Amino acid sequence: MMNTLISDAADSVCPICNGTGFVTTWQKDERGNLTEYARLCQCQDKEEQLKIKGTSDIPAEYENCTVHSFDTSLYNDSETAKKIKHAAGEYINHFQQFREQGKGLYFYSRAKGSGKTRLACSLGNAVIATNTMRVSFIKTVELLSMIKSTYNKKDAEITEKEIIDRIKRTPFLIIDDIGAEKPGEWVNGIFLSILDYRISHLLITVFTSNVSQSDLKLDERIIDRIVKMSIELHFPEESIRRKKANTECSELLKILGI
Ligand SMILES: Nc1ncnc2c1ncn2[C@@H]1O[C@H](COP(=O)(O)OP(=O)(O)OP(=O)(O)O)[C@@H](O)[C@H]1O
Ligand SMILES: [Mg+2]
Ligand SMILES: [Zn+2]
Repeated sequence: MMNTLISDAADSVCPICNGTGFVTTWQKDERGNLTEYARLCQCQDKEEQLKIKGTSDIPAEYENCTVHSFDTSLYNDSETAKKIKHAAGEYINHFQQFREQGKGLYFYSRAKGSGKTRLACSLGNAVIATNTMRVSFIKTVELLSMIKSTYNKKDAEITEKEIIDRIKRTPFLIIDDIGAEKPGEWVNGIFLSILDYRISHLLITVFTSNVSQSDLKLDERIIDRIVKMSIELHFPEESIRRKKANTECSELLKILGI
């Protein structure tokens, strides 16, 4: 999907710069001489944003999700949903301040399907669109199995160090489903190296989880860092996934005449 978008963008010629990537303007100096100035065309940013999106690993399901389209009417506890949506909107409005302080967010609910991953990806999409910021999405379980798969493989395409380096340096990182991994010393070591780097470089991390920060079964040093680098928001304990599935199902049952 994203690859098509990128090539579409590359194929169609920008009407502002005719595909040169630069716009030229003329300015008169004090002696009345005209000087030509070139600046980067706005399409260059859009292309950069599409490239970032294409390499962000944000799942296809959420690649077009926005904070604005987060539907609070789907929740029984719509008051809490509204507060969370508002907080996410304000986070983006005041992003520079959060960025300077290296503060991300931590979305959690014990209930599965409450919209945590959706909203986290919406924030990622927003900072790409407003700041052309590099974003990476990673599920903890997948990160760990990716690292594991590099062991015992001498000619692995990518080494453990390269995987960890990429994750730890990303300016805006979404760590999806933290707490779903099997805890242990190996896991602690990996998280510690990633989060320790991120905290000391004030890089933004947004977490989603089915457990609260204090209930994470990770080393205290890691939990301490997570608490420092993110603000915890408790999602409504209800499954929008289940609700949507039920609606879809009953519509299809109608077609089947049942
Ligand atoms: N507020 C919402 N507006 C629109 N769609 C939503 C909303 N919340 C959730 N959904 C949809 O419900 C499904 C589940 O959402 P999501 O994957 O974000 O849940 P989750 O809280 O991350 O679940 P899990 O705990 O299983 O990881 C998705 O298809 C998502 O698009
Ligand atoms: Mg999720
Ligand atoms: Zn252009």
